[in-house]
Amino acid sequence: MPVNLKGRSLLTLKDFTPQEIRYLLDLSHDLKSKKRAGIKNNLLEGKNVVLLFEKTSTRTRCAFEVACFDEGANVTFLSNSQMGKKESLEDTAKVLGRYYDGIEYRGFKQADVEALARYSGVPVWNGLTDLYHPTQILADFMTIEEHVNKPLKKVKFCFVGDARNNMGNSLMIGAAKMGMDFVGIAPKSLWPAEELVAEMMEVAKETGATISFSEDTAAVEGADVIYTDVWVSMGESNFEERIGLLKPYQVNAAMMKATGNEDCIFMHCLPSFHDLETEIGKQIGDEFGLTEMEVTDEVFRSAASVVFDEAENRMHTIKAVMVATIGKQ
Ligand code: CP
Ligand code: NVA
Repeated sequence: MPVNLKGRSLLTLKDFTPQEIRYLLDLSHDLKSKKRAGIKNNLLEGKNVVLLFEKTSTRTRCAFEVACFDEGANVTFLSNSQMGKKESLEDTAKVLGRYYDGIEYRGFKQADVEALARYSGVPVWNGLTDLYHPTQILADFMTIEEHVNKPLKKVKFCFVGDARNNMGNSLMIGAAKMGMDFVGIAPKSLWPAEELVAEMMEVAKETGATISFSEDTAAVEGADVIYTDVWVSMGESNFEERIGLLKPYQVNAAMMKATGNEDCIFMHCLPSFHDLETEIGKQIGDEFGLTEMEVTDEVFRSAASVVFDEAENRMHTIKAVMVATIGKQ
């Protein structure tokens, strides 16, 4: 059956089949090549898109905006709406659905992005909730396909750090769907919810994926990809506890070496605390005597690091999601 995603929301990759994810990745590669070649198809011409943000963003906002500009859509950035203050989420969704062909939402609760989709009547794209960050995973897998000379099904992917945050959860889901070898390396208290792991183990039976967890960083052996994320996500503030738990899981040169794979790449969704060049980085640095957190500056800036390709690919993959769900292709 040919894939048709018209009218669909992207709330979590759990809702997408491996074939549908494959389709989005292929479309992303194609749109990237076309952009490089200067080919413009105006695949979103005449469409109106709203970006509703309740948390800060650089990549996700700009990726949606540039994707809209590239393909001829009009875009509104909304970060100070009445929603939740003077107007319910349901009423806001019903209003936005009258104006816009698609809604991007970044916020806290997964239930909110789901309710927006239910009440707006138009496709809603999850630009990050506390639980999931699905558009990021598409960019990550696209980047792996560009840098690791193996099909996704052969890739050993190690997520090191806060494995129960939106990134840990979503990467495990994506890996299960795409038949990858996923290893979460974290203290047990930061492993994903048992129900989610069990659900993904079921998916893995169908796709040939393997999903495992370890508290031992030696589990990076043979990794093709080492991925990490911040230790404290947006909306959280427990630096002391997380630093205590995650310091042994910092991605550093010794960990990259322990993979035994000199082609192993380093990935991070960004933003990252790899130096003291940020307000929070400096503040935490002073308080806890750290100069870097989840990854050392050395690894971040090394030849193994593909973090800026990943950031670029946010735009190509988000464009693919919009084109597939509301566009002409
Ligand atoms: N990776 C990511 O979502 O970045 P932003 O928070 O800058 O959007
Ligand atoms: N886990 C991070 C991801 C940022 C893209 C956060 O939620 O802050």
